Amino acid sequence: MRRGSIVQLLVIGVVLGGIAAAVAIFVPWLPTPASREAGRIDFVIWFTTIICIAVFALVGAVMIYSVLKFRVPDDDDLDGPPIHGHTGLEIVWTAVPAALVTAISIVSGVVLAKNDHLPAKHLTVQVSAVQFAWSFTYPGYKNLTTGTLRLPLHEPVDLVITSKDVLHSFWVPDFGQKQDAVPGSINHLKVTPTRIGTYPVICTELCGLGHAIMRTSAIVMSPGRFKAWVAEQQKALAGPPGAAGKAVYDNNGCGACHTLTAAGSKGTVGPDLDKLPASAEEAGKPLEDFVRESIVDPAAYIAPGYPANVMPGTFAGLPKDQIDALVQYLVSSSKGG
Ligand code: CUA
Repeated sequence: MRRGSIVQLLVIGVVLGGIAAAVAIFVPWLPTPASREAGRIDFVIWFTTIICIAVFALVGAVMIYSVLKFRVPDDDDLDGPPIHGHTGLEIVWTAVPAALVTAISIVSGVVLAKNDHLPAKHLTVQVSAVQFAWSFTYPGYKNLTTGTLRLPLHEPVDLVITSKDVLHSFWVPDFGQKQDAVPGSINHLKVTPTRIGTYPVICTELCGLGHAIMRTSAIVMSPGRFKAWVAEQQKALAGPPGAAGKAVYDNNGCGACHTLTAAGSKGTVGPDLDKLPASAEEAGKPLEDFVRESIVDPAAYIAPGYPANVMPGTFAGLPKDQIDALVQYLVSSSKGG
């Protein structure tokens, strides 16, 4: 082979590799990893991408060079010379990809094993999916339950995921992993947050009309701030019914949909909770029973003018003391309001 040909091949290969590398590097394909697991997955992605860019540059260079160099003249209708293949080349283009694919599978296997390993010291959070909301319960903290996932920085977390109705799937893009939420079974996802911030929690399994709005946030906090948050919540939950009920109300995002003067919330998606006594009368039920039923079984009575199946059924899964506190809080603040 002439030296000039090798130089031409090299130049084409470098240009193609450069273009592919620029597309890989400068297009923001994926969020910056916010967990140790996502960092490892990122490594596998780059490992594979670099191999792909190299193969693309090599194959592309040979193709372009051949098209330019061995092009037949316009009036040449002859068959090409018969070719018998090249054993050496065939061995190379079989062995090299086999070695590369094996390398990718070994690296992936190591990452999967590492990502699946859960250290003895870890936080457990139960994740419960329901059409169309998420709820998070901390068994290590007296079953504190919230609608927003809060995690301490650098602490491995075992997310214990299930669903109360249909298939959903838990996904925080910045954590790099997805896990299905399946009714009647429990799936685990290990996450070790590495970056303080607020990240979207997305349902990534088509689960019904509200699938697109089945979102909340994962907030990664410093361990100190996380402890302070837990302490504050536990103090409120252990405190007088008003404080406990308000904590449950705030934690579960009730104010996003409901108006309640006592809580300072002005949501208009659902009925006005300042008017609960009047609604109970309309429904023909004692106020406290009506409030409890509306929380644990929202479909039992739909306030006139509001669509059914909008209020999530997740709240039935709140620990009993938290439901009691919320009921007391709503009863007393709506009477006062
Ligand atoms: Cu839940 Cu999609």
